[in-house]
Amino acid sequence: MVKIGDRERTAERLLQSSAKLSYDPLVDVDWNAPLADGKLFIPERTVSLYGTDLWRRMSHEQRIELSKQEMVNTVSVGIWFEVILMQMLLRMAYHRDPTTGHVRYALTEIADECRHSTMFAMLIDKVGETPYRNGWLLQKPAHALPLILRGAPMWVATLIGEEIFDAIQREHLQDESIQPLVRAIMRIHVTEEARHVRYAREDLIRQLDRRGWPTREFTRDVVAIGALLLSRLLVRPEQYARAGLAEPRKVAALARANPHRREVLTEASGRLVRFLDDAGLIAGPSKMLWRRAGVML
Ligand SMILES: [Fe+2]
Ligand SMILES: [Fe+2]
Repeated sequence: MVKIGDRERTAERLLQSSAKLSYDPLVDVDWNAPLADGKLFIPERTVSLYGTDLWRRMSHEQRIELSKQEMVNTVSVGIWFEVILMQMLLRMAYHRDPTTGHVRYALTEIADECRHSTMFAMLIDKVGETPYRNGWLLQKPAHALPLILRGAPMWVATLIGEEIFDAIQREHLQDESIQPLVRAIMRIHVTEEARHVRYAREDLIRQLDRRGWPTREFTRDVVAIGALLLSRLLVRPEQYARAGLAEPRKVAALARANPHRREVLTEASGRLVRFLDDAGLIAGPSKMLWRRAGVML
């Protein structure tokens, strides 16, 4: 079972940890250093086509280009998600006592996410790219998410965005073959996200304990749809088109079916899936969506 601490005590601990170890990417990252020649932008085995015949036929330059596009796509999704998360946290803070540790930590997290999104935007700019944008079919309705998602559904949406990215980004830290700039940025992100994950996980459990089955059902659906959406966004056809690959839709389908990619995603989401399963949030029809997302074998 998940162990849950007292809300105020957890918040105070997170606030202390933030005071001790937080970064300012504007000064803590060397933005003037040139990019390294011949290095990939994300670990090779996390590129969506890795392990396919198409990947084997690609030149080193093409692989670098694809790894760059996938990195830019990932941080573009990251910015989109963080901007939604900041709004959800602000709305939560609006209704509560600002002197509590819980709200003060929410404000601290908003400040972290604000710096992260700025840092990701600077990274996209530094590598000479433009961000990937969502089609209006997603962009318009998602605008309402901060109004709809509160309490437990808000926390699971947060965890989907934070924990799966976090696990993938941890791999960047150990991989010396990738661009040092990307590694420096991911180190900052991973360090600060660990606190966010703890905050979200604990409050999710507290909220679930207090609510009845309708909230639990809705939360299950939100988490499964979130996982499916995230896994689809990470293989956006446009990234293959920008990387110069022919028939980008077919390539995206190839990536979705790539058993190696499913393995990487399953591995990356393992901790989160176990946690959600323990909390009773992976059950019923929503389980099928998890399988379709390819994050569960
Ligand atoms: Fe972040
Ligand atoms: Fe975060």
